[in-house]
Amino acid sequence: MFLTHLECTNCGTRHEWRELQNLCTKCQKPLFPVYDLAAVGKALKKEDLAAREKSLWRFREVLPLPADAEPVSLGEGGTPLLRAQRFGDAAGVSNLWVKDEGQNPTQSFKARGMTTAVSMAKHLGATKLAVPSAGNAGGALAAYAARAGMEAHIFMPSDTPRANIIECRELGAEVVLIDGLITDCGAEIAKRKTAEGWFDMSTLKEPYRVEGKKTLGYELAEQLDWTLPDVVLYPTGGGTGLIGMWKAFDEMEALGWIGAKRPRMFTIQANGCAPIVRAFEAGEKFAAEFPDAHTVASGLRVPKAVGDFIMLDILRKSGGGAVTVEDAEMISATREVGAAEGLFVAPEGAACFVALKKLAAQGRIGKDESVVIFNTGSGIKYLECYE
Ligand SMILES: Cc1ncc(COP(=O)(O)O)c(C=O)c1O
Ligand SMILES: [Zn+2]
Repeated sequence: MFLTHLECTNCGTRHEWRELQNLCTKCQKPLFPVYDLAAVGKALKKEDLAAREKSLWRFREVLPLPADAEPVSLGEGGTPLLRAQRFGDAAGVSNLWVKDEGQNPTQSFKARGMTTAVSMAKHLGATKLAVPSAGNAGGALAAYAARAGMEAHIFMPSDTPRANIIECRELGAEVVLIDGLITDCGAEIAKRKTAEGWFDMSTLKEPYRVEGKKTLGYELAEQLDWTLPDVVLYPTGGGTGLIGMWKAFDEMEALGWIGAKRPRMFTIQANGCAPIVRAFEAGEKFAAEFPDAHTVASGLRVPKAVGDFIMLDILRKSGGGAVTVEDAEMISATREVGAAEGLFVAPEGAACFVALKKLAAQGRIGKDESVVIFNTGSGIKYLECYE
């Protein structure tokens, strides 16, 4: 393994990877795993990857977990990057691609984060895992905890899509429904975790979900023949995928796999819950909690994100931006995408297609630029939205 330590994203304090860790013990901000990339570069050539298994564990050298430990895996990652010609033409963009994350185990990109986080939690001796979830993270944790023979305790808002709730129960997890938002679910776990012996798997409050998510960035480069697109549209809740991808870009540049060019990164949020868009537009470093958060795209209903300052920095550094979309627009875009491309996208994914049309119409995305949309989940989990 090439993981050397954990480092605070805010104050730089080093932390030990051999112990279960949550936030920085000094400043309560997220920790990032750091690797000996010079050694990785000697052990792994990007050309070696093509012959490996499809699962994201083919990037083992840039992932946590000692080499003799078996990952807790369900075959996650390795999703297709699909050309979306018809939708792109209609939106005035000739080079549009969709990374279809609905094809992961438990039908969302949350599987990527959970395979690495559960593998490390198990390796470091945790037995009971708890997570606040908007829906898909809960399903993914339930599946990976079951696979690992561990307990999962999942706290969800009571109006989380039915499919997510049922899925968690049928995967053997304990499900607690809370009359409130994901932030209230997180607070409940924080209150009870010590007494219950739970390890808190909240996104970015645990250092390894971001590592699984960063493989989105590795796969993107791999699928575009070691180049990156001009623009990335990412449906943003906690922002772990966006943050992870940016980390992957930096790691790949250090490995000499890609150059210095970065995509313009765009955060897409719902009108009813847009803390990052607001903070971006106001030029703020941190994002204030968004009041009365509501949207059918449950994954975007995150009024306060612990990684807000990391996301805002990425959006600005990349020359990207932040866009809001109405719920009704997401719902009608779902059928447009479905009929044009054969993909039943999640409302979160649909939001990016709406944003694409807006950005193209405003001239903020050029006709011949390459654009990648992350469809982070599957519409099949949100049937109540379409009835
Ligand atoms: C389908 C879907 N898309 C996007 C998100 C937001 O992901 P992130 O927390 O990485 O911003 C979620 C989170 O729950 C989700 O379930
Ligand atoms: Zn710190």
